[in-house]
Amino acid sequence: MILALETSCDETCAAVMTPSGELLASIVASQAADHAAYGGVVPEIASRRHLELLPPTVAAALAEAGCSSADVTLVAVSAGPGLIGALLVGVSYAKGFAYANDVPLVAVDHLHGHVASLALADAPPVGAHLVLLASGGHTLLIDVDEHGALTTLARSLDDAAGEAFDKGARLLGLGYPGGPLLAALAADGDPLRHPFTTPLRGRSDLAFSFSGLKTGLAMAVAAQAAPTADLAAAYQEAIVEHLLDRARLGLAASGRTTLGLVGGVAANTRLRERLTELPATVVAAPLAWCGDNAAMIAAAARQLDPLGAEARLALDAHARSPLG
Ligand code: KG4
Ligand code: ZN
Repeated sequence: MILALETSCDETCAAVMTPSGELLASIVASQAADHAAYGGVVPEIASRRHLELLPPTVAAALAEAGCSSADVTLVAVSAGPGLIGALLVGVSYAKGFAYANDVPLVAVDHLHGHVASLALADAPPVGAHLVLLASGGHTLLIDVDEHGALTTLARSLDDAAGEAFDKGARLLGLGYPGGPLLAALAADGDPLRHPFTTPLRGRSDLAFSFSGLKTGLAMAVAAQAAPTADLAAAYQEAIVEHLLDRARLGLAASGRTTLGLVGGVAANTRLRERLTELPATVVAAPLAWCGDNAAMIAAAARQLDPLGAEARLALDAHARSPLG
């Protein structure tokens, strides 16, 4: 059995998967309530909560899968990118578990994990494809070749898409995490009442940018340009339009005909709806696996080689990723 751990941000996650890829258990212990009062994730609180939550979360995942630590043949852990203190809790636990049980350890890039969440879809992409990864920390177009090798084609010049949702929600006086709240408010709004300009429209840069949009929303809120639901709808529409616009460019540049959609923002209903406009076969990660989870870390681990004996003990967490 593969035991996978994920502690890069504010969810403490453990999953159990068979070596052939059947998911037996996945537990996500959210810390959202611990951070809500601060309007965002407090790194120090996240590390401390991971420390408290990880042992019972692992125990719950093993119990749900009907196995014990003796059945674990491989440990996989998200080693970065993310909050360094939070990552270190998962990495240290994984190293200890692997050493104590004498099983191999696989270090997974969290972003690779999101890409691998597509393997949990009913009909995963076959062969080479392009992936739009939109989360709280990253907005990327990642090319996946026929061998599964990942190459980043586009990054954000400033904020990430999820960050844009969260900051927008804050400007509109909504709570945290803001993405789902802004999306819910937008559902009742008119996106055409006070439309925002799509970032980088008409330009062929393979890049994302969200900070101008955020400034536009701040100005509209200050001027009370429209009811908040209409502003939320217009803001969401501009984010979605920008993601679609760049994905279209990425598909043309890469020649890929299948597009995967992953990451926390992939849960957005409007984005999922509008992606069908693209000239591609679209595979969206199942809703349960869009946000951070350990099932995707297990899925990614199946594509990687375990660390050697020395590297297993030397593994360190890293805040940044070569993919990001
Ligand atoms: O992938 P994820 O769980 O964590 C990171 O790796 O960052 O993504 C979290 C992000 C947050 O910014 C959250 O507001 C956003 O995903 N999000 C959404 C929705 N659900 C989560 N954004 C828009 N619409 C949603 N329904
Ligand atoms: Zn993530």
